[in-house]
Amino acid sequence: MTAPVIEIRNLHKAYGTLEVLKGVDISAPAGHVVSLIGSSGSGKSTLLRCANLLEDSQQGDVLFCGEPVTWKGKGLARHPADRAQMIRIRTNLSMVFQQFNLWSHMTILQNVMEAPLTVLKRDRAEVEAAARKYLDKVGIADKCDVYPAMLSGGQQQRAAIARALCMEPKALLFDEPTSALDPELEQEVVKVIKDLATEGRTMLVVTHDMRMARDISDHVVFLHQGLIEEQGSPEELFTNPKSERLRGFLSVTQTT
Ligand SMILES: Nc1ncnc2c1ncn2[C@@H]1O[C@H](COP(=O)(O)OP(=O)(O)OP(=O)(O)O)[C@@H](O)[C@H]1O
Ligand SMILES: [Mg+2]
Repeated sequence: MTAPVIEIRNLHKAYGTLEVLKGVDISAPAGHVVSLIGSSGSGKSTLLRCANLLEDSQQGDVLFCGEPVTWKGKGLARHPADRAQMIRIRTNLSMVFQQFNLWSHMTILQNVMEAPLTVLKRDRAEVEAAARKYLDKVGIADKCDVYPAMLSGGQQQRAAIARALCMEPKALLFDEPTSALDPELEQEVVKVIKDLATEGRTMLVVTHDMRMARDISDHVVFLHQGLIEEQGSPEELFTNPKSERLRGFLSVTQTT
């Protein structure tokens, strides 16, 4: 069996004295969609950021396609030891943020082309063809030459997804991709994410949208105060939650 694209084992993460992750294991096998749900402050974003090494962690392992991250230092001083490895992992795990984070001084096409050109040093003509293909895929091929401020939130988020895809990553990480959007714009982004799931993309998705989590996930993880409280298939988790905390969480968030 091939190794999961992302695997995290017994991860501990603190900000100073605040313990945010207290020993978390999570795995995203190739072609699977894993959703992370939980209350505000439970550590979901922190976990995503630790997975792609945007944050350091103090204990535990992070593996990318079976390859463990090598560390130097201990405790709060622990960092990835190998910068080339860190960059390779980070560029293979493209992240999509709640607030889109597009560069406002670049056109949409330039936004999508920037990292493949500057970080991966790929050929400009090839990158442009790929960028146009992905902008077409997310339904905004006609927006190539405009600036982010001229797009709706839903269009901006779809541009951010095209930008993530243009890195040709091994997995996509989403942090609340629809939370900043009005309901109707949210649906156009949900549709794009659903299509990516159907295509067999490997994805780790933090979301408050329980309907989307239910529709797209192979596995759902409920995080509570830095620990996994419950996990399972969407059917198990959403129709037959076992823990009192998950039941409480779902009773206030579930829309169906
Ligand atoms: N850079 C930071 N410095 C200090 N504390 C932080 C930092 N980032 C997050 N935290 C704290 O870590 C905890 C977990 O935060 P995190 O952002 O991972 O939660 P979350 O589950 O993503 O919440 P939300 O649903 O609101 O996005 C919170 O208590 C938060 O205040
Ligand atoms: Mg968060």
